[in-house]
Amino acid sequence: MSNPSAHWPFFDLVIQTPRLTLRYPDDHRAAALMDLAASAGVHDPGYMPFSVPWTRFEPPYLQRQGMQHYWRMRAELQPESWDIPFAVYDGDELVGIQALGAKAFAVTGTVGTGSWLAKPVQGKGIGKEMRAAVLHLAFEGLGAERAVTSAFADNTRSIGVTTSLGYQDNGWEVDDREGTAVRHLRYVLERAAWVMRRRDDITFAGLDPCMPVLGIASPRAD
Ligand SMILES: CC(C)(COP(=O)(O)OP(=O)(O)OC[C@H]1O[C@@H](n2cnc3c(N)ncnc32)[C@H](O)[C@@H]1OP(=O)(O)O)[C@@H](O)C(=O)NCCC(=O)NCCS
Repeated sequence: MSNPSAHWPFFDLVIQTPRLTLRYPDDHRAAALMDLAASAGVHDPGYMPFSVPWTRFEPPYLQRQGMQHYWRMRAELQPESWDIPFAVYDGDELVGIQALGAKAFAVTGTVGTGSWLAKPVQGKGIGKEMRAAVLHLAFEGLGAERAVTSAFADNTRSIGVTTSLGYQDNGWEVDDREGTAVRHLRYVLERAAWVMRRRDDITFAGLDPCMPVLGIASPRAD
């Protein structure tokens, strides 16, 4: 039988931290992620952390549209615009997702991130560790120049992750959250600031064959 990784090398892309393993979601992992979101929940019903309120969907549509979301990221990946989701494991336990994406990366050198964790495991340092993992892949592996992120002004936990990793304020905009105007805060982490905090206990494997698919010739040298 043919090996899908031979044609889609992201299936073999892995990031390892002392605590977490981040793996590209195949269909089984994508289904498990959506079942996790459905069973454990991602936030209190009275709060919405996302601009696209996908967590309001009811099963089984919640899981089905999630599968489509992961397939869409795969199908639409190209050098000009890509999103790489990672299923996050704390030991053997699937806990959530950490995504890394970029537009015109060859020109901008800029990556963005997005994430969620199952509610029961939030507030235990996993969010910070998984963001540090994809930042390591971006700066060390892809040669990124900067990372950006954003969160609603009242998402103190997400902002806590961001500021604890050294991002700086980068302005704000007003967003539509389920029909209400809310301030959306932007943050940026420049390469020089990341180098100051660079960790030596995060590793990744399987990136080399992904580089040409992302249109990246070779990572920059410091
Ligand atoms: C956002 C999310 C991924 C963060 O992950 P987490 O594991 O809960 O966060 P952590 O426990 O890693 O917190 C990391 C940092 O934020 C700080 N922090 C956590 N909660 C905080 C709070 N309420 N206020 C201020 N800082 C906070 C922690 O102190 C820690 O910083 P430190 O290491 O310097 O002490 C997770 O809470 C989540 O999935 N939330 C729901 C979905 C969501 O909001 N996604 C992001 C949309 S922008």
